[in-house]
Amino acid sequence: MKTVAEGASLKAGTQTHAIVPGKPASALGYNDSMMGPTFRVERGVPVTIPFTNSLTEETNIHWHGLVVPANMDGHPDQLVKAGQSFAYSFTLDQPAAMAWYHPHPHMQTGKQVYMGLAGLFIVDSPEERALKLPSGEFELPLVIQDKRLSAAGAPVYNPTMPEIMVGYMGDTIVVNGVNAPFHPVATRTYRLRLLNGSNGRIYNLALSNGDAFHVIGSDGGLLPAPERVSSLLLAPGERVDLLVDFSKAALNSEVFLQSSAFSGVGSQGSQTFKLVKFMVNRSEADPFKMPASFPALTTLSPASTAKTRKFAIGDAMHGAGGHSNKKSMAGMHTINGKTYDAARIDESVALNSTEIWEFDNSMGDEPHPMHLHGTLFQVVGRSGGRDSLMAHEKGWKDTVLVMPKETVRVIVRFQRSGKFVFHCHNLEHEDDGMMLNYEVK
Ligand code: C2O
Ligand code: CU
Ligand code: CU
Repeated sequence: MKTVAEGASLKAGTQTHAIVPGKPASALGYNDSMMGPTFRVERGVPVTIPFTNSLTEETNIHWHGLVVPANMDGHPDQLVKAGQSFAYSFTLDQPAAMAWYHPHPHMQTGKQVYMGLAGLFIVDSPEERALKLPSGEFELPLVIQDKRLSAAGAPVYNPTMPEIMVGYMGDTIVVNGVNAPFHPVATRTYRLRLLNGSNGRIYNLALSNGDAFHVIGSDGGLLPAPERVSSLLLAPGERVDLLVDFSKAALNSEVFLQSSAFSGVGSQGSQTFKLVKFMVNRSEADPFKMPASFPALTTLSPASTAKTRKFAIGDAMHGAGGHSNKKSMAGMHTINGKTYDAARIDESVALNSTEIWEFDNSMGDEPHPMHLHGTLFQVVGRSGGRDSLMAHEKGWKDTVLVMPKETVRVIVRFQRSGKFVFHCHNLEHEDDGMMLNYEVK
């Protein structure tokens, strides 16, 4: 992945890419590469990104995790036709964070992302730089995806009815567009900035040597304090910022970032996946010191809320039965019993109001990572399953994992006016209709 500052443009098109090293095959991509360029911009600096659609179908760009004006957000209404261009421009006023971008045409998002259209967008700030976190070659942005590949090495997207129910899973792990990546590392602390860019797979992240690591950030920026854990679940759309200390690892040893089996959802399988291989190949004094304090988090207070909205999410599978083809599956994934209707406004919200949104999966069998456009939120609580928040849920978020049987409450402040979507970020669920419109005015 190339890192670019503001000023770069994007072109979606067909390209040839070797997911399996040495096996170039056809895929989609931005700027002729499987992972688009990584944008790296300073908070508060105006950004303009001219975009050209060189695909043979409609697409657009959604800036996932960036709080941008509604007409720049890549709403499913705002499509760029084949052969057409559009200039995205916005100025970011949010904490430093790692966001990402991907297409959002309704019912095509899953396919377009899976075939290769995605990239990272990093927002920097003076507050974050002051912490002197590992940077340069010691800061590794990693996009984790799972793919199914043809014999030629091309991604294959063709979900069956049951695969739409659970999400389209692959058996080949692809990190930054490449299968079986490795990084030589020194005996020191690295900053790993991870995005789960998969359509449906949840990863249970851990290090193969059993070492714990520090979680320092989440979707929307740094946590108010680091937290040491030995594993964490990362759902599609979520990001996590980790500090991994290789100083105790033996020289010439290999340490894997892996995904271990986890309980709670049968459809996610019980495999262990090796994600990235770190080869500890040189000894170096570790200059990194954990900052004495992290920037304070402005906590949104539930007491100030005007309203609680409840959303029953999940599979309307129960008692429905008898579905024999793909078409009859449409509408199986709903929010409050509804599937996406472009012409309908489902929720109207007052500008600058603060609300509690409650996602109730108590009747569901599948995990749903729920994502809001147009804002960031904080997770207030979870009940019914895991009864606590994970380390990376204690800061700004835009996507939160709601496991089967769980109810999760988030607190949201609506600072941008206009029409936005919120949806499940299992992209098969989203394309199947698990998405609604909300309007802020
Ligand atoms: Cu990354 Cu609407 O999503
Ligand atoms: Cu988004
Ligand atoms: Cu879902």
